[in-house]
Amino acid sequence: MGMGNGPGATMRGFTRDRSVRDRRLQEGTGRRVLGYGRPFRSDITLFLILTIIVAALGVATPLLLGRIIDHGVIPQDRGVVITLGLVVAGLAVVEAGLTVVTRFYGSRIGEGLILNLRTQVFSHVLRQPIAFFTRAQTGALVNRLNTDVIGAQTAFTSILSGLVSNVVSLALILGALVTMSWVITLLALLLLPIFLIPAHRMGQRLSQLTRRQMTLNADLATRMTERFNVGGALLVRLFGRPAQEDAEYADRARGVRDAGVQISVNRVIFMAGLGLVAALATALVYGLGGLMAVAGDLSVGTLVAMAALLGRMYGPLTALSNVRVDIMTALVSFERIFEVLDLEPLVQEDEAAIALPDGPVDVELDGVSFAYPGAAEVSIASLESRTGSAAPRPDPSRSEAGKQDTPDPDTAVGDGARVLQDITTHIRAGELVALVGPSGAGKSTFTTLVSRLYDPTEGSVRIGGVDLRETTFASLSRTIGVVTQEAHMFNDTIRANLLYAAPGATTDQLEAALRSAQVWDLVERLPEGVDTVVGDRGHRLSGGEKQRLAIARLLLKSPAVVLLDEATAHLDSESEVAVQRALDEALTGRTSIVIAHRLSTIRGADQILVMDQGRIIQRGTHEELLARGGLYRTLHDTQFRTDRHPAAPGAAGAD
Ligand SMILES: Nc1ncnc2c1ncn2[C@@H]1O[C@H](COP(=O)(O)OP(=O)(O)O)[C@@H](O)[C@H]1O
Ligand SMILES: [Mg+2]
Repeated sequence: MGMGNGPGATMRGFTRDRSVRDRRLQEGTGRRVLGYGRPFRSDITLFLILTIIVAALGVATPLLLGRIIDHGVIPQDRGVVITLGLVVAGLAVVEAGLTVVTRFYGSRIGEGLILNLRTQVFSHVLRQPIAFFTRAQTGALVNRLNTDVIGAQTAFTSILSGLVSNVVSLALILGALVTMSWVITLLALLLLPIFLIPAHRMGQRLSQLTRRQMTLNADLATRMTERFNVGGALLVRLFGRPAQEDAEYADRARGVRDAGVQISVNRVIFMAGLGLVAALATALVYGLGGLMAVAGDLSVGTLVAMAALLGRMYGPLTALSNVRVDIMTALVSFERIFEVLDLEPLVQEDEAAIALPDGPVDVELDGVSFAYPGAAEVSIASLESRTGSAAPRPDPSRSEAGKQDTPDPDTAVGDGARVLQDITTHIRAGELVALVGPSGAGKSTFTTLVSRLYDPTEGSVRIGGVDLRETTFASLSRTIGVVTQEAHMFNDTIRANLLYAAPGATTDQLEAALRSAQVWDLVERLPEGVDTVVGDRGHRLSGGEKQRLAIARLLLKSPAVVLLDEATAHLDSESEVAVQRALDEALTGRTSIVIAHRLSTIRGADQILVMDQGRIIQRGTHEELLARGGLYRTLHDTQFRTDRHPAAPGAAGAD
């Protein structure tokens, strides 16, 4: 029996959406999809040949059975019965063997396709600018890529095998039936609309249900990803209403159940219908054909063969009636993947990119202005979903994903507005520059341009005299080290987290870095030392400990340029002293840009840049600026922390 035959293949048509059929595909999608099949050309050829052979064998067997009856059983010729019986048995063995081989090639093509798509998508998304991730919802993104990649694969192979084997089977079956008795064939075909028309309706109903179930399922998954991490769980615990969360979750989960039950019932009705039509056809063959046999117009063997063939005809017929939707669905899955793949990373490596010079380097900003990119430049509209957001919305249970596909205009806050204006500054190799200014002045944005998370809208950023747009990513990442107050860690061991920055480092170097970062004593006290797992995002460590680990990670990497974004802002004074000592170690001999609230750091800077509303409004040393008055003086009097007056609440409010 052909792989794509039978009711199983038919069901595929039911997971399809009506909207899919109406969707206009972009030109060239088909050609592009075929491109993905190209590496598997020889496998596909073999697969198709095998599929055709298996389909032909499925038709040959009933014909041989008819011959056994007509030429062996009825004339009582034992020789013919035995020979043909053995042939049928042999064919069954061959068919079974070929089915296995066909399946092997089929899955090799399908899984190979998944592999290629998956690695391509992963690598592409990983290289998207940070702005992409500030917009896309992680859960939704991961879900969608998984669903679409698998959808594309399933459709690719099932169409490949389904289409070919169903067309071949159907042609052979019809040919054989017509030669044997065109009257019976015609009558049997007339039975078909009785089944096909309601089946078509039910298919539409099923596709709606399936669609709804998928949407709800995706929504459940997204909610879980958002809440099942320390940050999300804390938010729910401290601010949320767990009972309401439960209710909302249960509401969607019930929707999944209801859709599931309806889908099952509809499927069973469909299967029963298919079985019924086949049974009616059999009755027709034996009834009408039996009369013809009695009259001598039809042989008994032909009767048996026809009955067997008719049973095999309805599956392929229904499958083929859905093939257009199948193909469209596959193409839509591919198109949604292409949508992601076609998103050009805003920040790209130039083909002629050169490495940054080693050793101490200058950092220059020359006439730099910057506006954060708008949604259209960095994101895909359909990924800008707001499902499951923590804030209660008017009627969350009614919202369906389809409606959230349009980006909300008010998420576009800040798009297009200049966050940095005409910044020009020259930081000499080895110098320590402090950025100070009120929250929202653009200090963090300044550092993201130096690490090339974004390219400036106007002007240029140069390190060691080389424009960052002309440098290789590898050398940039080697040159620049960043510590923010976030200090992100993977849920892995301390060793793995540190080696992430410097894969080649030895255990001795690891220890030295941990010592310099004032965190070795702590690590030594942990039950498994450097092999202790830090927990999701490092949540098993205190803020100060995590900061010092982040500094150790930076020291291990030993970059020429260090960017510190309020690395000590959230720490109590005791951890702050330890972190400060670690930082002093980290900063010596490196070009450093530091955003700090601590007076001693600021005072020690070679140069202080005072920022307000995206501009540098004052610059100079501590003494010069203090003497001059203005914003620096105000900040000094109200915001900077001295060692004696630690952590005024609110002073650390910037993020
Ligand atoms: N990813 C972003 N997308 C759009 N606007 C942003 C983004 N990050 C920050 N901004 C805006 O840029 C301005 C400067 O922010 P930031 O550089 O973080 O200030 P600071 O670090 O001085 O507190 C703020 O008005 C902020 O709202
Ligand atoms: Mg900031």
